[in-house]
Amino acid sequence: MNKNICCIGAGYIGGPTMAVIAEHCPDRTVMVVDINAERIAAWNSDQLPIYEPGLDDVVRRVRNRNLFFSTDIEAAIQSCDIIFVGVNTPTKMFGRGAGCASDLQYWEATARTIVKAANSNKIVVEKCTLPVRTAAAMEQILQEHPRYHFDVISNPEFLAEGSAIADLEHPDRVLIGGHQTPQGLAAIEAIVDIYAAWVPRERILATNVWSSELTKLVANAMLAQRVSSINSISALCEETGADIDEVARAMGMDGRIGAKFLKAGPGFGGSCFRKDILNLVYICESYGLKEVAEYWRQVVLINDYQQERLVGNMLLEMFNTVANKRIALFGFAFKANTGDTRESPAIRIARLLLDEHAQLAITDPKALAHAQGDLSDVADRVHFTTDPYEAAQGADAIVVLTDWAEYRTLDFARLYAGMRKPAFLFDARNMLDLAGLRAIGFHARGVGKGVAE
Ligand code: NAD
Ligand code: UGA
Repeated sequence: MNKNICCIGAGYIGGPTMAVIAEHCPDRTVMVVDINAERIAAWNSDQLPIYEPGLDDVVRRVRNRNLFFSTDIEAAIQSCDIIFVGVNTPTKMFGRGAGCASDLQYWEATARTIVKAANSNKIVVEKCTLPVRTAAAMEQILQEHPRYHFDVISNPEFLAEGSAIADLEHPDRVLIGGHQTPQGLAAIEAIVDIYAAWVPRERILATNVWSSELTKLVANAMLAQRVSSINSISALCEETGADIDEVARAMGMDGRIGAKFLKAGPGFGGSCFRKDILNLVYICESYGLKEVAEYWRQVVLINDYQQERLVGNMLLEMFNTVANKRIALFGFAFKANTGDTRESPAIRIARLLLDEHAQLAITDPKALAHAQGDLSDVADRVHFTTDPYEAAQGADAIVVLTDWAEYRTLDFARLYAGMRKPAFLFDARNMLDLAGLRAIGFHARGVGKGVAE
């Protein structure tokens, strides 16, 4: 077996993951391939297609050393014995399971390309997030090859955007699932060997293939469930005079509960939480587990509710109308330190405000290009600017939607001076000093901040 690796899919997962593998495994050639020529050209340029802290440096060190980006998918398949598949698996938007099931057409296309191009036995590694038991379907397609044998391994990725490089460098764990046969165990070992170059062995878990596939869906569902749980309680805080940050802190100090993923906000975004929970719901339904499906569906419903609630609160404060008022949205990315806006709460909140006939000014340090794409159909009612002061000029309200660190150090007195009065500020991330803002003159409000009496 040769040591070369290829990855089909040069997206948020394929690019950073392979760059870190290439850095730690200088004896392996790593090829990242994609059908999207524009994306590959960007990976080969100084302007990488995604923004991720630290990514530029890693790519600069290893690109054209042992990391290569190309559109020649068949050649890459032929040059290696280990093939990672990191293509997109979005929610299916048509036919059976529309709005819930995973759309597996991109994944299946890669399986067929592998069969067509293969010139030796291969290990095929599921890097993308897939419904449990997808490996069986992959094997069925691959088995059509008359000559070569294919082992399918599940190796889901747990990195979070904005901290991808740090997560890849120091993963909590690496999960590798395969069949518990001599051949399957050998394939698991071949993948363990890659990660063992920098990940301590005790953090590399080997399981059966179905456990690995399911763990990825469940890990995302559990994380999203914590966000929805705390957001649901933020509504109760506003009614009762409790403060959600105080509740989360005190609760999170219980070692059994833990402090992470208890920050109330505008709801979770990102390309995966929603799609993976809906996929889990669909899988449960397809096995007849209706109650289980409904339980997880609630996590998504609470997320939608939080965004509606936020806009409802704004309307209430602003005399029940925002028609023709300028509202400045601070942040459009789904979280800080990324330019990604997929499923960003900002998209839904912007559209709900536009439904109320507001005029929007949107600012974001990294995500404006995507924001313009997301709102292209309503572009005449939205002003885009990288300058928060320009966005707030003449505005009735500022809404902080992304937790960019730089928003903490803005000159709020200057922002206030440029706004129409009364000036409102809605801190949907609970990251600003509300008392300080009120002292300036803002009518300032956070999330889950009841009035204590
Ligand atoms: P992405 O859309 O950024 O990238 C996917 C890439 O695959 C695209 O560039 C697309 O052109 C390419 N592609 C599609 N079909 C292809 C084909 N037949 N041949 C070659 N290339 C093809 O998606 P992503 O965010 O990188 O996510 C990929 C997978 O990884 C998903 O299953 C996702 O759930 C999972 N994942 C993503 C993250 C994340 O942080 N984004 C984290 C963990 C897991
Ligand atoms: C998430 C998981 O954290 C990763 O482990 C997983 O690999 C990835 O999904 C995936 O499968 O794509 P990501 O979506 O990049 O990563 O970012 P998170 O940090 O999980 O944040 C998701 C959303 O939840 C963001 O909108 C964030 O602002 C929100 N969030 C998170 C909160 O509102 N409160 C919190 O306490 C934590």
